[in-house]
Amino acid sequence: MKIPKLLQAVLVLAIVYYGFILVFDVILDHVIPSSLLTMYMFFVVAGVFMVFTATEESTRELVGPIKALVEDPSKKTIRNVVFVILPLLAGWYTYGKTSLSFEAPVELRTIHPAPPSSMKAYGKRYDVIKLENPLRKLEKEDPKKFKEHVAAGAKVYIQNCHFCHGDKLDGRGPYAAGLNPTPANFQDIGTIAQLQESYLFWRIATGGPGLPKEAAPWISSMPIWQNFLSEEEIWQVILFLYDYTGYQPRSFGHE
Ligand code: HEC
Repeated sequence: MKIPKLLQAVLVLAIVYYGFILVFDVILDHVIPSSLLTMYMFFVVAGVFMVFTATEESTRELVGPIKALVEDPSKKTIRNVVFVILPLLAGWYTYGKTSLSFEAPVELRTIHPAPPSSMKAYGKRYDVIKLENPLRKLEKEDPKKFKEHVAAGAKVYIQNCHFCHGDKLDGRGPYAAGLNPTPANFQDIGTIAQLQESYLFWRIATGGPGLPKEAAPWISSMPIWQNFLSEEEIWQVILFLYDYTGYQPRSFGHE
């Protein structure tokens, strides 16, 4: 019995398609990525089409059944059935691909959310607006002592922060690639150069969990450093961040 050309073509496509899946899934034990499968199948469909339309006769054989279905008056019933089923199938396929979801759209992220006016850390309340780095004044009053605090801050940084924020403070620490959101890049003009030291104190002391609601949906890995560092160590590491990058902390009102 001779298999009609159209059926042959469909069979070849089906065999190749399931062949790919079989080879990947069963033999190689890998799920084939759908984009790769689509790409392969594109070439297979193109190849099959070329082979099956190589001669005029085979082309006629291939499209014959389709032509007959559309034109032959005796095939009216099948035609009507096919023309109802095809759009339904297409609709069903499309519906299946669309993941209908009733969840709220993704919220926009606020990279630097407004700090709270007051914060709690080390069992105390801080007025974030008035809060200043107590070590900053040494920069003018006692440069030698100031340098010592910067050096102590460098030590705190290398022991605790470089894993994520990088040894060049560029946000490319060894853990950075695995984190989303990525660790802040302090060399970037958009981070500490724009911020006050009190803001950094707040962010470092309270970490990712201290971020306010409008910063959601952040799942920041930034640790809560008040659990590990002393208050002075946080102020020291802040001095170091500015010293190393060469930025000046932002200050309001008294410049
Ligand atoms: C486990 C990884 C990790 C470690 C360790 C870490 N951080 Fe972070 N940090 C992050 C991530 C991720 C962000 C960005 C998301 C965010 O703002 O919470 C961030 C943000 C910050 C910010 C906010 C910057 C801005 O522009 O708003 C500061 C300041 C900061 N880190 C300082 C530090 C300091 C100082 C240390 C060490 C004492 C440290 N971090 C250690 C992951 C880390």
